[in-house]
Amino acid sequence: MTPVIEMQGIHRIFESEAGLAHILHGIDFRVEAGEFVAIIGPSGSGKSTLMNILGCLDTPTAGTYRLSGLNVAELTDDELAEVRAHEIGFVFQSFNLLPRLSVLENVMLPLAYTDCPRHERERRAVHALHAVALDVGHFDHRVNELSGGQMQRVAIARALVNDPAIILADEPTGNLDSHTGALVMQTFHRLKDAGKTIVLITHDAHVAAEADRMVTIRDGRIYHGDAPYDEVPEVVMAAADTRQKEATR
Ligand SMILES: Nc1ncnc2c1ncn2[C@@H]1O[C@H](COP(=O)(O)OP(=O)(O)OP(=O)(O)O)[C@@H](O)[C@H]1O
Ligand SMILES: [Mg+2]
Repeated sequence: MTPVIEMQGIHRIFESEAGLAHILHGIDFRVEAGEFVAIIGPSGSGKSTLMNILGCLDTPTAGTYRLSGLNVAELTDDELAEVRAHEIGFVFQSFNLLPRLSVLENVMLPLAYTDCPRHERERRAVHALHAVALDVGHFDHRVNELSGGQMQRVAIARALVNDPAIILADEPTGNLDSHTGALVMQTFHRLKDAGKTIVLITHDAHVAAEADRMVTIRDGRIYHGDAPYDEVPEVVMAAADTRQKEATR
């Protein structure tokens, strides 16, 4: 079967006036349909950079990324927009909610780019908000009137509203107390049971342990298996550095 996500040798180098920043170093990463994978790593290790590429919001400097068998580099802007609108639900680390719109309007936003009629958009948004257990009383509140945990759940509902096959979530429990965090994780388990493919980024080992599989990212390099990021053996690091030097020689 074709994997949903297949990355080979992904590098990301940012260019700025300050110079070049080589953030991702030859990432190989595969996710099969219906898998729930956690990516764990310390702050600054490149998690969001990787997630933006996975979500087709950014393009790698080198390497190949196939999404549902399609080489992303070969898609036109319109095709990419189509993939983002229908295939991917993205939960941003910073929520990216529009503060002046209501909860319901925020959740309906991704459907604005589809031909879905307004009453259907509203019905789906309500459904998605129920899925994250947000209180109905909040649906017509502006999001800047919500708590961080409530905003987080609105951001997840927005990612679900287009019923995507793939859900990419960047620190979805990062700002939550443990009770709300557990509620959010229940949502991900239900989505997994419904057959969704989930990639979840976290720096919390307990959250990562709930996934089917865990990969570690450290200094822009990926390690498969369940070694917590602060226990990646130095030999692994050294071997990866040697491989990297050989690759760039
Ligand atoms: N557009 C950019 N231009 C230059 N450098 C960038 C850019 N985006 C990210 N970086 C750098 O890449 C590194 C990794 O950033 P990234 O946001 O991927 O980390 P992260 O693992 O998500 O961290 P956190 O856990 O704090 O969210 C950081 O050093 C950051 O400064
Ligand atoms: Mg991040």
